[in-house]
Amino acid sequence: MSPNASAKARAYRLDVTDAAETAAVFRRAADWMGGLDLLAANAGISTMNPVVDLTEEEWDANMAVNAKGVFLSNREAVRHFLAAGAGGAIVAPRIDARLHEPRPNRDEDTRLKQAGRPVLEAGPGVTDTGLTEPDRLPTSRRARTSTAIRPVMSWRFARRIRPASCSGARRTMTVRFEPTRAIDIAALLDGGDAATDRAVAEVLASHGGAVVTGFAGAGDLDGRMAEALAFFRMEREAKLSCAVRRYAPGHANLYRGFHPSWEAPGSPRKESFDIGPEPPLTSPDVPGAESFREANVWPGRDPVPGWRDTMLDLQRLLRDLAVTLMASVARGLGLAEERLLAPARGRNATLRLLRYTAPGGPDRGEIGEIGDGRRAVAEAHVDTGLLSTIWQDAAGGLQLRGPDGVWREAPVVAGGLSLHCGDLMAALTGGRLAGTLHRAVARNGERHSVGFFLEPDFETGVVAPRGGAAVSYARHLVNEFPGRFEAPKAA
Ligand SMILES: [Fe+2]
Repeated sequence: MSPNASAKARAYRLDVTDAAETAAVFRRAADWMGGLDLLAANAGISTMNPVVDLTEEEWDANMAVNAKGVFLSNREAVRHFLAAGAGGAIVAPRIDARLHEPRPNRDEDTRLKQAGRPVLEAGPGVTDTGLTEPDRLPTSRRARTSTAIRPVMSWRFARRIRPASCSGARRTMTVRFEPTRAIDIAALLDGGDAATDRAVAEVLASHGGAVVTGFAGAGDLDGRMAEALAFFRMEREAKLSCAVRRYAPGHANLYRGFHPSWEAPGSPRKESFDIGPEPPLTSPDVPGAESFREANVWPGRDPVPGWRDTMLDLQRLLRDLAVTLMASVARGLGLAEERLLAPARGRNATLRLLRYTAPGGPDRGEIGEIGDGRRAVAEAHVDTGLLSTIWQDAAGGLQLRGPDGVWREAPVVAGGLSLHCGDLMAALTGGRLAGTLHRAVARNGERHSVGFFLEPDFETGVVAPRGGAAVSYARHLVNEFPGRFEAPKAA
């Protein structure tokens, strides 16, 4: 840059293979610059070894930086462009220098174009670094790198393995689940839209839930969620610093904080981090409900810079969305808005980060396969509260059962949240809606989700789905989960 230039620059250290760190650094940079207009993701490495000598570790390292790193940075930039509604430019340092026009069949290009400016991918060509100087390579390696890897070899290999993997997949695909519907609720941002109100209310009544998109904050929602999940990548000791007393004797917190996974018959293999209202709410004097007054308990250090503030911002964003949806549902059902807004008007809500570490199975007292080779990692249940929104990572697997008894699967949609009803909606809507039975399934490996649960304040009077007199929400929780919120009894 010319020394006479008036532009300012700032550098941030970033591990480009880390999604949460990428999201955090992009947010910090965008905050400092007042937005983001252009990205040139040019971090790259090469160990320069020929294929016969290449180790798996080298391969993984090269792919993590050169492929995944560029993907993560591009994805984060596009999320910022979309959120700002102004488009942007991505300079792709490609060796085969080309300038791309927006491609109409590419969804992200189209969305960016609609946002006001086309995305550009410009290839400035070879960057003059040591990677491109053949003389730096030993002669033997030069010869082999130029001839050893040809596309035809990859193609033949792919042909050879495809039949085996496909036949295996076919054997297990015996049950298919139709997806829950997706509803764009952008029209609600302007204060209400009768068609959207009806669509939301009707899908909750007929299917128990839907995926909603187009809400405020949807543009960079996935980045925020990736940042949220950075909690689980901390060392176990760091996570245990905020564990609930059941797993960390001496800790004061019983409810909010870290719930580790544990090995016991019938236990789901999952860990979670629970965030409540801040500052904490008061709670009526109900035995077993003392922990409802707990303040949040945070890890000793943020897993990524600004994490705690990001979590509280996320909680506010999701609370605003859920309250907006409560009003929409009321209008869609032809009820007075106040009927559904009154119990939602306080501050209570729970934001829960979840990491499922492995599927359950019959040996663990959990339900077995659901018919397509997957197993439940969260048994079917109804949430306690008003409305729930669930974000899930690419593993997906959230399923909702409608009043018609049909299980449907919430598709993973960029910037989308799965919406369903808590148990209090039955009485609030005079039986028009009901708490939605739902479960989570997975084939193998990890699954992450972030649940947001809109709840009445603890003093608010509520009526259980089975009817009866109104009780405080604190009493309702204790009735539904006896002993869950109490200190463990001494042995
Ligand atoms: Fe749930």
